[in-house]
Amino acid sequence: MNPIKVGLLGIGTVGSGTFNVLKRNQEEIRRRAGRGIEIAVVADLNTERARELTGGTVDVVSDANDVVTRPDIDIVIELIGGYGIARELVLKAIENGKHVVTANKALLAVHGNEIFEAARKKGVIVAFEAAVAGGIPIIKALREGLTANRIQWIAGIINGTTNFILSEMRDKGLDFDTVLKEAQQLGYAEADPTFDIEGIDAAHKVTLMSAIAFGMPVQFDRAHVEGITKLSAIDIKYAEELGYRIKLLGITRRREEGVELRVHPTLVPASRLIANVEGAMNAVLVQGDAVGATLYYGKGAGAEPTASAVIADLVDVTRLHTADPNHRVPHLAFQPDELSNVPVLPIEEVTSSYYLRMRVSDETGVLAEITRILAEGGISIDAMLQKESREGEPQTDIIILTHLTREKQINAAIRSIEALQTVLSPVTRLRMEELN
Ligand code: NDP
Ligand code: HSE
Repeated sequence: MNPIKVGLLGIGTVGSGTFNVLKRNQEEIRRRAGRGIEIAVVADLNTERARELTGGTVDVVSDANDVVTRPDIDIVIELIGGYGIARELVLKAIENGKHVVTANKALLAVHGNEIFEAARKKGVIVAFEAAVAGGIPIIKALREGLTANRIQWIAGIINGTTNFILSEMRDKGLDFDTVLKEAQQLGYAEADPTFDIEGIDAAHKVTLMSAIAFGMPVQFDRAHVEGITKLSAIDIKYAEELGYRIKLLGITRRREEGVELRVHPTLVPASRLIANVEGAMNAVLVQGDAVGATLYYGKGAGAEPTASAVIADLVDVTRLHTADPNHRVPHLAFQPDELSNVPVLPIEEVTSSYYLRMRVSDETGVLAEITRILAEGGISIDAMLQKESREGEPQTDIIILTHLTREKQINAAIRSIEALQTVLSPVTRLRMEELN
C-alpha cells in the first residue's frame, strides 16, 4: 500500500522533533500502522531553516494554505500554535476533508467545541494526544483505557516549565528569571511564557481533560487560573517544614453540584509520589470509581517527547481513517449528543484545605482572636506553626493549616483576620490537597 501523505504546518521545536522521529523510526512505525507515513510537504515562515531541517527531501512552502488544500494530503499536522492562524488552518483543513493532528492545547481549549463539531460534520478526526502532558498518553488513557470508570477527579502537574522553575528554585536556590530563561532555551516554554507562569497553559490542558473525563463541552472560560508569579520563597520553605511541597496543579473534580476546574499552586504532602515529580517532568493522577487511583508520569514537553505523542496520533489516524466515523472513539470520549451541561462551579464554591500565613504582633491573645474567627466561621484547624520572633522585633509569622472547607468561608474568615489590629500583613492563602 502507498504511504499515507502528511502535511506539516510549523517545523519549530515539536515539528522538527516529529520530522526526525518519524524518519528515524519509519520502519518500526510502518509495521505498526500497516503502511508508511510520509511527510510530503512542510509549511513554515522560515523556508530556509525548514529546507535545512528536512535535508531537501520534502516540498517546503511558506504559505500553509497551500498544504491544507493540497489534494494528495490526507493528514495535516498543526504545530504552529496559538489561536489565530492555527484556527483558520485547522478549520480549512477539515473543510477540505483532511484529518488533523495537533499539539495545540490553547486552540482546542478555546475553540475545541467549534473544531470538533466541524470535524464531526465532515467525518474527519482531530487527534490531540500531544496537547496534554507532552509524551504521556493521558488522552488515550482517559478516553479508552479508563472508559469503564466514572472518573471522580484528576490532579496533574501538567506544565513542565513551572515545575522546572519550582524545582530549580527550591533545590538550587536559583532565581525565577534565570530558571525561566533556561526553560525557554530548552524548548519547554510557550512562545509567550506568561501562558506557562500564569497557569494558562495548565488551564488549557486541565480543561481538555475535564471535558473528556466528565463528558461535557470544553469550558476554558470557566476555569479558575492562578500561576506561580505571586508565590513567595518563604511559603515554599514553611510548606517544607510542615511536610508539604508546593506544585502548580491542574485539578478537576466531580461534585454533586457541578465540576471543579482550577489551576493554582497547591500544597501536597511530601510523601505523595506526585509531590516528588521534579524538573520538567509531568504527572497526572486520575481517580476512577472502579480502578481507584492511577498515575501517569513522563516528559511533558520538549521536541521528541512531544513528537512521540504526535506520531502516536498519526498512527491511530492512519489505522482508522477508512473506518466508519461512527465506529471511531469520539473526540471527547462521550458520544457528541451525550455531552452534558453540568456547570463548572465558581471558585468560591470549591472545597479544599488551606494554608494561611500571616505576620502578627507577638503579644498575648493574638492567636486566640485568630482561632476564634476561624471557629466562628466553622473552619477546623489541622496544624499550626508559630515562628520565634527575632530579638528586638516583636512580630512573628503564624502559619495555620485547615481541614476541608468551602472557599467562601475561608475568604470571609481572612477578611475578619485582616481587620484585626494585631495582624500586620495581608493573609497569604494557598490551597492544599491530600490526594489520597
Ligand atoms: P515553535 O515556536 O518552536 O514552532 C512553531 C513553528 O511554526 C515555527 O517554526 C514558526 O516559524 C512556524 N510558524 C509560525 N507561524 C506560521 C505560519 N503562519 N505558517 C507556517 N509556519 C508558521 O513552537 P513549538 O514547536 O514549541 O510548539 C508548537 C505547538 O506545540 C504549540 O501549540 C505548543 O503549545 C505545542 N506544544 C509544545 C510543546 C513543547 O515542548 N514545545 C509540548 C507540547 C505541545 P517562525 O519560527 O519563523 O515563527
Ligand atoms: N509550555 C508547555 C510546558 C509545553 O512547559 O509544559 C508542553 O505543553
